[in-house]
Amino acid sequence: MSFAVFRRLAITCRSTSSIYNRRSFATSSPFFDETSSTTGSADSPRTVTLIPGDGIGPEISNSVQKIFDAADVPINWESVDVTPVKSPDGKFRIPLRAIDSVTKNRIGLKGPLATPVGKGHQSLNLALRKQFNLFANVRPCKTIEGYPTPYTNVDLVTIRENTEGEYSGIEHTIVPGVVQSIKLITEHASLRVCEYAFLYAKQHKREKVTVVHKANIMRLSDGLFLKCAREVAEKYPEIKFEEMYLDTVCLKMVQDPTQFDCLVMPNLYGDILSDLCAGLIGGLGLTPSGNIGENGAAIFEAVHGTAPDIAGQDKANPTALLLSAVMMLKHLQMYDKAERIEKACFDTIKDGKVLTGDLGGKSKCSEYTSEICKRIKDSS
Ligand SMILES: NC(=O)c1ccc[n+]([C@@H]2O[C@H](COP(=O)([O-])OP(=O)(O)OC[C@H]3O[C@@H](n4cnc5c(N)ncnc54)[C@H](O)[C@@H]3O)[C@@H](O)[C@H]2O)c1
Repeated sequence: MSFAVFRRLAITCRSTSSIYNRRSFATSSPFFDETSSTTGSADSPRTVTLIPGDGIGPEISNSVQKIFDAADVPINWESVDVTPVKSPDGKFRIPLRAIDSVTKNRIGLKGPLATPVGKGHQSLNLALRKQFNLFANVRPCKTIEGYPTPYTNVDLVTIRENTEGEYSGIEHTIVPGVVQSIKLITEHASLRVCEYAFLYAKQHKREKVTVVHKANIMRLSDGLFLKCAREVAEKYPEIKFEEMYLDTVCLKMVQDPTQFDCLVMPNLYGDILSDLCAGLIGGLGLTPSGNIGENGAAIFEAVHGTAPDIAGQDKANPTALLLSAVMMLKHLQMYDKAERIEKACFDTIKDGKVLTGDLGGKSKCSEYTSEICKRIKDSS
């Protein structure tokens, strides 16, 4: 390894805060308690950082805010812009106001952000994950009644390691025409996400955790991830543990997704597999997600992109962001509000009369939003 590469790797490792230090995780750790960022009772008002995002982001964020108003959710939104600003070193970074807001509130809701391909600033999604050490990406995928797909009774959750692996950002040109990208796997981050997965399974009464890997090929990196998963599994004898190669999981997933329950995996596999799972229930427009951080911070986000083709036309489907906001309410222990909103949303889809174009309907985003608000008000 050249000196320059070694130096870069050393800097990356240092900045990810003692990732080489082995740590043990107690199951009582507040880091892993879904409710760790709650203070006060479920009814006490909370301030949440809102990142409306780009493209359709402002439209769908507005829809979520209207629906939360209809349900009288005690949340104050602190809206921030994360358009990168140039810092003195010439690099583009997240504005300080946005960082301060999430640091203070420790909870955020985020719309999609546009990322330039192969040039310009680094992915802001990646930057936010690194900034707040959001180590686990959680995506529940559950069949939505009234929106048929070739699959029925899907009910699984993917938990993706969110901070390292192929997304460590350690890339360099060795000589022109030859580039190298380093996949970084550490014991610390692997134990942390596996511990979270088992604790999540326990808290959500899930019966099985499947660790997804390619340790047959990447013996050291995936081998370490697998070893960590095995180690954590031993502490949870009540939860069934299964090991499976990524390719086998893909094959079995499209044959019969009901055989899976909770899946945990390194970063890149999670990126791909979680989108595949979203496809089983109707696509990214219906899939929520949460990024859970070690320091109690959590950012919930829709997993689809900015949809530039329909931006500003009142055609976007706000469901994914709304269901992500519902996940956030459960995280804040506001279960009653969460269930009311979720029911109104699912009932609207099941009814099938007011649906956005991507769901086969002709309604606008604003009409779909009003229908959900109406159902919430009628139910009170
Ligand atoms: N989490 C994120 O912030 C995130 C995720 C993916 C892509 N992106 C960014 O978004 C931009 C566009 O990416 P893309 O075109 O590959 O993917 P995309 O998800 O924006 O769009 C793909 C297709 O799905 C449709 N679509 C997506 N969300 C929808 C919604 N809520 N309602 C109705 N239709 C919807 C779009 O109209 C488009 O036809 C890129 O800059 C990309 O980097 C951001």
